[in-house]
Amino acid sequence: MFLVTGATGDLGRRIVRLLRERDVSARSFVRLDARYAELENRGSEIFIGDLRRERDLHKACQGIQYVISAHGSGETSNGDAETIDYQASIELIDQAKAAGVQHFVFISVLGVDRGYEDAPVFKAKREVEKYLQTSGLSYTILRPSGFASNLLSLAEQFRQTGLYVLIGDPLSRTSIVSTDDLARLAIAAVSAEGAHNQIFAVGGPEILKREDIPQIFSHIFNREPFLLNPPLLAVDGLRNAIGLFNPKLRSSLGTFRTLLANEFFTTAAETERLESTFNIQLEPLETFLRRYLGV
Ligand SMILES: NC(=O)c1ccc[n+]([C@@H]2O[C@H](COP(=O)([O-])OP(=O)(O)OC[C@H]3O[C@@H](n4cnc5c(N)ncnc54)[C@H](OP(=O)(O)O)[C@@H]3O)[C@@H](O)[C@H]2O)c1
Repeated sequence: MFLVTGATGDLGRRIVRLLRERDVSARSFVRLDARYAELENRGSEIFIGDLRRERDLHKACQGIQYVISAHGSGETSNGDAETIDYQASIELIDQAKAAGVQHFVFISVLGVDRGYEDAPVFKAKREVEKYLQTSGLSYTILRPSGFASNLLSLAEQFRQTGLYVLIGDPLSRTSIVSTDDLARLAIAAVSAEGAHNQIFAVGGPEILKREDIPQIFSHIFNREPFLLNPPLLAVDGLRNAIGLFNPKLRSSLGTFRTLLANEFFTTAAETERLESTFNIQLEPLETFLRRYLGV
């Protein structure tokens, strides 16, 4: 039985879908007010809980062989990296170990080891990685770049308007990963020879410039892009203004700024290592988008 945290998230629901398609038993850790009917309909066990509660984590880990930790402090957690990305993950590791879990897969983030001081999620994930590595649990750490699924709503907006907003340097490089490939990798990590007690950088098969993304949309929808390109300084100004009345939000926006200000791509050697260890061929961004957008 797999336990999947963040099971209602972009990645988590894909992991649960895939497990159930393969008829593998899965327990989805979800909040009562989350949208989990699809997971239940697919035959996943539903565990209602809150990652901030130790007793919920304790109960959720009972009878579990494999944990895939795919939760995160998105908008729905008010960007609380310390509580969700750090404390809940540390407690999950402790409870998994106490319950005799055989393998723990942790979804981290690409660039986590670069020491970004202004990015609470990166700092939390790095500390959790270190804790997991010394926990005595068998583990795999996946460090993904940005998810292709993040672009689906932007693509729909582009389809209607042709508009694309690109903040910061259009030449900055990225290797966006198919969220479905990442789900496959997370599941395969428990059994792939060579994936145990390893860290993998996970990106798509191509290194794109950020300005390539509206061009891909343009190609898919056969429509000229109308590009808005505000500078990073605009985000800084907004962030400072927000900080005057909401210092916590200002701090969590540091992660967003870090993502905009830096390059997140995987090298050819990292891609080759991933593809050979997991025996997978990574999907290009355009293929992913076309599958979901039906074009
Ligand atoms: N998105 C990216 O581009 C990206 C890139 C690199 C790494 N990552 C990492 O990959 C992982 C998955 O990302 P994602 O985009 O799929 O995440 P997401 O869509 O933001 O989903 C977050 C999940 O965490 C759950 N969660 C948050 N607080 C919770 C709590 N207190 N109790 C129970 N569940 C809680 C949410 O539940 P609700 O549905 O109830 O809110 C949701 O299922 C995260 O660790 C993220 O940091 C993401």
